[in-house]
Amino acid sequence: MLQRATPGHVFTKIISTGSYLPDKILTNDDLSKFVDTSDEWIRSRSGIQSRHIAADGEETSDLAVMAAKRALDGAGLAATDIDLIVVATTTPDVVFPSTACIVQDKLGAKNAAAFDIQAVCSGFVYSLAVVDKMVASGAYKNVLVIGAEVYSRIVNWKDRGTCVLFGDGAGAVVLTQSKEPGILATKLHADGSRRSILNVPGHVRNGVVYGDPYVHMDGPAVFKMAVQVMADVCNETLAMANLTASDIDWLVPHQANVRIIDATGKRLGVSPDKTIVTVQGQGNTSAASIPLALDTAARDGRIKAGQLVQTVGVGGGFTWGSALLRW
Ligand code: UT7
Repeated sequence: MLQRATPGHVFTKIISTGSYLPDKILTNDDLSKFVDTSDEWIRSRSGIQSRHIAADGEETSDLAVMAAKRALDGAGLAATDIDLIVVATTTPDVVFPSTACIVQDKLGAKNAAAFDIQAVCSGFVYSLAVVDKMVASGAYKNVLVIGAEVYSRIVNWKDRGTCVLFGDGAGAVVLTQSKEPGILATKLHADGSRRSILNVPGHVRNGVVYGDPYVHMDGPAVFKMAVQVMADVCNETLAMANLTASDIDWLVPHQANVRIIDATGKRLGVSPDKTIVTVQGQGNTSAASIPLALDTAARDGRIKAGQLVQTVGVGGGFTWGSALLRW
C-alpha cells in the first residue's frame, strides 16, 4: 500500500535499529570437519564464510530482547513506552505463547500488545507492512519490530545442502508516528502452491512429532524463484511511490546468498556499491537478516537520514515482499 503525504497524514518511521549475534562463530572450516563440504564450495556457491550459533539455553526470545534493548537505547525510549511488539520468526521458543509475548515479559514492556508474524524469510518485511497500517491509522505510537531466529535448531547438521547456509541472530527496529515520510510503500505476495521447495514438514500431533522436523530445500528451485521475484516486487513499490531504481540509495535485500543478491541488483539496476551485504559473516538468518543488515549499515554510517532504502525479502511459503523506506 502507498502512503501519501496529505495534510495531517501520519507516517510510520523507523527511528532506531539494534541487533544481536550469539558469541559462538562457526566457520566453513569448522563445518568441513563434520560435514562433507569445503570452505571453497560454500564461499563460491553462497558467499558465506561463517555464521553465529546460539548457546544451549539461549532462546529466540533472548536474542530478540538483546536486539530490542539496543534499538530502544538508540531511540531513547523505555520498554514501557512501547505499545506494540511484533516478532517475525520461524523458530519460536515454544508452540505458544508467541515469542513476542515472551519478549514483552523479558523486556518489561508491560504496556505493549504482542504477536508473532510467520512468513519465514519474508517475515520482517511482512511485519513492516502490517505495522505500518497500525501506526499510520493512529492506533499505535511506538512499535518494536524484531526479526529473530535460531535456525541452528531446525537444520539437519548432516544435510550439507542446507546446514552450511543458515545462522542465528536477531535484528530490531523501533517505529513511531511521524509527520515526515518513513515507510513510503509496501507490497506483499505469497504462492502457497510452491510450499514444497522450502519447508519444515514436521509437526506435533497428540504428543508425537510426525514428519521430518528439519529444513528441506530444493536449492536450485528456491534460487530461481528468488531471483525472479525480488527485483519485480522492488519495482512494484518503486512505481507505487512514483520513484525508479535510480532513486535508491541503499538496497537491503534478504541475506540468503551473494549470488541471489547480485542477480537481484543486476535485474533492478542497482550497483553493488549501493547494496548492503552481511551474509558473509552471518549466513542466512531468515527473518532476522534484513534488520541485522539495516542495523549494520545504519551504525557504520552508510545509511543516512533522508536516504531512500529499498528492503526486499523472499522465503518459504513461498512468500516475498518489499518495503520502501525514507530513512
Ligand atoms: O531464504 C531463502 C532460503 N534459501 C536460499 O536462498 C537458497 C537458494 N539456493 C541456493 O543458494 C543454492 O541453490 C545453493 C547454495 C543451496 C546450492 O548451490 P547450487 O549452485 O544450486 O548447487 P546444487 O544444489 O545444484 O549442487 C551442486 C553440487 C551437487 O553435487 P552434484 O550432484 O553436482 O555432484 C551437490 O550435491 O554441489 C553439491 N553440494 C555440496 N558440495 C559441497 C551441495 N551442498 C554441498 C556442500 N558442500 N555444502
